[in-house]
Amino acid sequence: MINIRRAEHTDADYVFAAETAYIDCPWTLEQIRDEIARDNTVFLVAEEHGELIGYASCEIVVDCCDVNNIAVSEKYRRQGVASALLTEMESRAKRLGATESTLTVREDNTPAIKLYEATGYVTVHIRRGYYKGKNGMIMTKKF
Ligand SMILES: CC(C)(COP(=O)(O)OP(=O)(O)OC[C@H]1O[C@@H](n2cnc3c(N)ncnc32)[C@H](O)[C@@H]1OP(=O)(O)O)[C@@H](O)C(=O)NCCC(=O)NCCS
Repeated sequence: MINIRRAEHTDADYVFAAETAYIDCPWTLEQIRDEIARDNTVFLVAEEHGELIGYASCEIVVDCCDVNNIAVSEKYRRQGVASALLTEMESRAKRLGATESTLTVREDNTPAIKLYEATGYVTVHIRRGYYKGKNGMIMTKKF
């Protein structure tokens, strides 16, 4: 049974390890701790039987939910964990006043693009060379 909850200070080490393993420009441990503590962010973790298996975070900027990152530990992928994290994050973002969500994803990150498309995001702009020569796709979703 997967449980989604707000990230706590003590979850930062897991998030940092996952960022370092799976994300292009990983945040530092300090940045992660700051983000978890801030009021205008929604920072969630997924856990199963007490083991952390994924996380997602966004920042609320006025009426927009800016998705920072989302990742799921490899052995738990394709089980709906990221979808559950996104759904809960969007629901909390809405309660904080967001009316839309936006994110940037590398053009060759097929799993992430498919995830976002499956949850209602559409590509609205291409940022040429945003990821060290690879294009970034800006995707948005209206709530
Ligand atoms: C992208 C990522 C978060 C998806 O996590 P996940 O828990 O496996 O995603 P879900 O199980 O919720 O998948 C939901 C849907 O997304 C799509 N999807 C997810 N992974 C996919 C893949 N590898 N290939 C094709 N479609 C995929 C499918 O439509 C899937 O539904 P389905 O399994 O019923 O077909 C995960 O692959 C990951 O951590 N990647 C590394 C970090 C990363 O790239 N983060 C995004 C940065 S922008």
